[in-house]
Amino acid sequence: MSQSSASQQAAAPGSAAVFLPSKDFAAKARIPSLAAYRKLYQESIDDPEAFWAGEATELLWRKPWSKVLDWQEPFAKWFDGGKLNVCENCVDRHALGPRHNKAAIIWEGEPGEQRVITYGQLHRDVCRFANVLESNGIKAGDRVLIYMPMVPEAVVAMLGCARIGAVHSVVFGGFSSEAIYDRLEDSGAIAIITADGGWRRGKVVALKPAVDEALLKYRKIQRVIVLRRCGNEVAINPDIDVWWHDQIATASAKHTPKAFDSEHPLFILYTSGSTGKPKGILHTSGGYLTGTYATCKYIFDLRDEDVFWCTADVGWITGHSYVVYGPLANGATQILYEGAPNHPDFGRFWKMIEAYGVSIFYTAPTAIRAFIKAGDAFPAAHDLSSLRLLGSVGEPINPEAWTWYHHHIGGGNCPIVDTWWQTETGAILISPLPGATPCIPGTASLPFFGIDAAILDESGEECGPNQDGRLVIRKPWPAMTRCIYNDPERFKKTYWSDFPGRYTTGDGARRDEHGNFWIIGRLDDVLNVSGHRLGTAEIESALVSHPAVAEAAAVGRPDEMKGQAVAVFVTLKANFSESESLRQELRNHVGHMIGALAKPDDIHFAPALPKTRSGKIMRRILKELVCTGEVTGNITTLEDYTVVATLQRNIAR
Ligand code: WTA
Repeated sequence: MSQSSASQQAAAPGSAAVFLPSKDFAAKARIPSLAAYRKLYQESIDDPEAFWAGEATELLWRKPWSKVLDWQEPFAKWFDGGKLNVCENCVDRHALGPRHNKAAIIWEGEPGEQRVITYGQLHRDVCRFANVLESNGIKAGDRVLIYMPMVPEAVVAMLGCARIGAVHSVVFGGFSSEAIYDRLEDSGAIAIITADGGWRRGKVVALKPAVDEALLKYRKIQRVIVLRRCGNEVAINPDIDVWWHDQIATASAKHTPKAFDSEHPLFILYTSGSTGKPKGILHTSGGYLTGTYATCKYIFDLRDEDVFWCTADVGWITGHSYVVYGPLANGATQILYEGAPNHPDFGRFWKMIEAYGVSIFYTAPTAIRAFIKAGDAFPAAHDLSSLRLLGSVGEPINPEAWTWYHHHIGGGNCPIVDTWWQTETGAILISPLPGATPCIPGTASLPFFGIDAAILDESGEECGPNQDGRLVIRKPWPAMTRCIYNDPERFKKTYWSDFPGRYTTGDGARRDEHGNFWIIGRLDDVLNVSGHRLGTAEIESALVSHPAVAEAAAVGRPDEMKGQAVAVFVTLKANFSESESLRQELRNHVGHMIGALAKPDDIHFAPALPKTRSGKIMRRILKELVCTGEVTGNITTLEDYTVVATLQRNIAR
């Protein structure tokens, strides 16, 4: 009998398969049984401050905190009065101890270069870069935008900012110049760290030109530090641009980190919401580090001998928390890869897992579905036996993808932690613990220690088993966002106004009779496309900024690969006519305004959009139309219900 079938148990009739942690795994795990989890969970819920303080104590504090939690709903201060340096915790603490020559980052560029950066080397690199930032006039509290490929210098840039107390705002390399401009405006950044370009699918993707374009409109930038990565030609403005290598060449490898308040801002990361303007999610120092440190330690059961690989880009929260801060705070060895998973073919990840002996692998369901489509032969060609644990994040993992991942990547031996969390939550909130929690494909299972998650109905009552409702968190936790940057009112309204004292996640979910959380998906106007959040309002406002468009509505429809695809309905202005070339132009226009990831998959031209008598677009109807091809509900409240028949005919064509 294979180990997979040994650990698989039939669940209650009618329910999904249950995979128990193997005895071997459990024996070595920090939390070795469900009973141990339940006991510690109960204690952590009875006294969350005691639990979190215990975790925070494992970090290096220059001054102890005077209060674990100061909660003036909805504003939290964690470890108030305490002082620490986040970078010192992630780097110096290891570099100045026995991990000095341990690999912190094993990097592979897409063309195949390899670099191993030890904690000692990372320390020197970060010290040099912190000196560069300071000698360029960047100070604590200044905002610095980072727009870089997945190279070790991106990590050095983030840590360098953290070291001097500057607030980084990383913008994913796939975003456009307009998106950079919006984030510069909102954050008031004074410096940018970028690169000439990065490698993606065998080609150089230029980055610096998008920065240059954004700076035509944004005038507050004092310095742009440019890394030479690909050697593609870029324009250099001698007034503000400097080369990374020139600056580093003369910088000292010694830098004494200052201690900052626990609540000192660490970063702003923009994410989509239900209006056209992305939200600047603000995270601070002590609490965020405690949350990412503790979740990394327990959920990945991270050990010194592990080789950890989270495939996320540093432009997303997963890259912040589980490429940079969480693993480095734990002194882990991790893999960083620059390029596409399918370059030169779909075997790239598996080849790297074999080559570096990766033991923990954390990726997204959308990637897994692409691997399934590419075929089993790719993973089968590699020895993946070094893997002991797998993870998933970004969207619900469908049972087919779970099962394939478990069998073809995990060899039937690896627990899969399906981790639920958000940019706003900073760290994982709901996930199995790999030595303790029975894994059931499709559920993120149980809340992490200290996390009081619940499902409420519209009236705020807790839902019964298997009843759909709204996922909320009932107690503050250290890695929670502190505010939307410069917009406390929007912060209150978005997250804290639906149910008093509860953080509203915006996700729908249900709990089964064992208490497992099954996430259904977003309840607001936010799509989840390939694991990335996109606001329908953002796409709509990009479309209406095109001269041909009078009105637009965006909705999601299920897509086998991406999870959700973007479908838009567009009403043209009177003097424009429908054509395939206009369709392409609109697609490119959205790419220009937001980034390639937001380009609509389907564009339906519509003579009119279905609206209520008060003029509100009925997205629910459009959604039903793109998902099923017809509309079944009552449409008599529409201002003009013949519109629906027209759209239905057009879609059927
Ligand atoms: C969704 C990504 C189901 C969810 C870390 C959430 C998930 C949004 C899961 C946050 C999961 C993330 N199961 N859904 N394991 N993980 N989501 O801010 O809808 O990019 O609200 O953070 O992704 O996306 P964000």
